[in-house]
Amino acid sequence: MLEVEGVTKRFGGLVAVSSVNLEVERGEIVSLIGPNGAGKTTLFAMVAGFLKPDEGSVFFNNDSIGGMKPHQICSLGMVRTFQITQPFAGLTTLQNIMVGAYSHTKDTHLARQKAEEVAETVGMSALLDQGADGLTVAGRKRLELARALATNPKLLLLDEVMAGLNPTEIDEIVHVIKGIRDTGVTIFLIEHVMKAVMNLSDRTYVLNDGQLIASGTPKSVAADPMVIEAYLGHGAATTMAGQA
Ligand SMILES: Nc1ncnc2c1ncn2[C@@H]1O[C@H](COP(=O)(O)OP(=O)(O)OP(=O)(O)O)[C@@H](O)[C@H]1O
Ligand SMILES: [Mg+2]
Repeated sequence: MLEVEGVTKRFGGLVAVSSVNLEVERGEIVSLIGPNGAGKTTLFAMVAGFLKPDEGSVFFNNDSIGGMKPHQICSLGMVRTFQITQPFAGLTTLQNIMVGAYSHTKDTHLARQKAEEVAETVGMSALLDQGADGLTVAGRKRLELARALATNPKLLLLDEVMAGLNPTEIDEIVHVIKGIRDTGVTIFLIEHVMKAVMNLSDRTYVLNDGQLIASGTPKSVAADPMVIEAYLGHGAATTMAGQA
């Protein structure tokens, strides 16, 4: 469904993403993990049309989407959420979600219906009339998810939708994400919360310093010495093996 081939992004002298190849198959939940600054958000931005790769290609359902704008990619069925949530502060939660629905309908009634439906999916029906600026962190994360879902995606890119949530809220959103997958939406997510990564992912990719260093089942990736080194520093894998 999604194929990323040799994608590179440079910011001045910094190679934020370096020749990355990866793919996401229809129906999967695939995760992308890696230390802070690894290039995860930059990769998502290129996939969703917010940044132009310096090199490489991105294919969605076998069509090259290189050079397309985010709204064009969105109408093909791929949408991303933002790591830093930015709700429209003057609008209610309902109106914020409707913004997503307006990507495929001009009809206010239909947009409202869609917004109410996805609010139910993400568990924020009771908050619809509240001003979006008054939402808690967990509420803002759900809103970000709802607004993306309202665009009717086939592939949903989630950038750290669990950051700042407590363990109960994380369990809830894991449940919500599984529910979304069960409705036929493919999911590609960036996540630091390892428990959720292990629990949700069919497959995991690991990015470090712009390069993919591992991929496979979340269990195999978590046991990979290269991955342990990337997270914990040089020598950590050997130290841990010694302690085991
Ligand atoms: N617009 C930009 N201009 C210059 N440098 C940037 C820009 N965006 C990102 N970077 C740099 O590129 C690198 C990758 O950043 P990115 O945000 O993609 O990392 P990340 O893996 O999403 O990290 P985090 O887990 O902290 O969100 C970092 O060194 C970052 O400072
Ligand atoms: Mg990021």
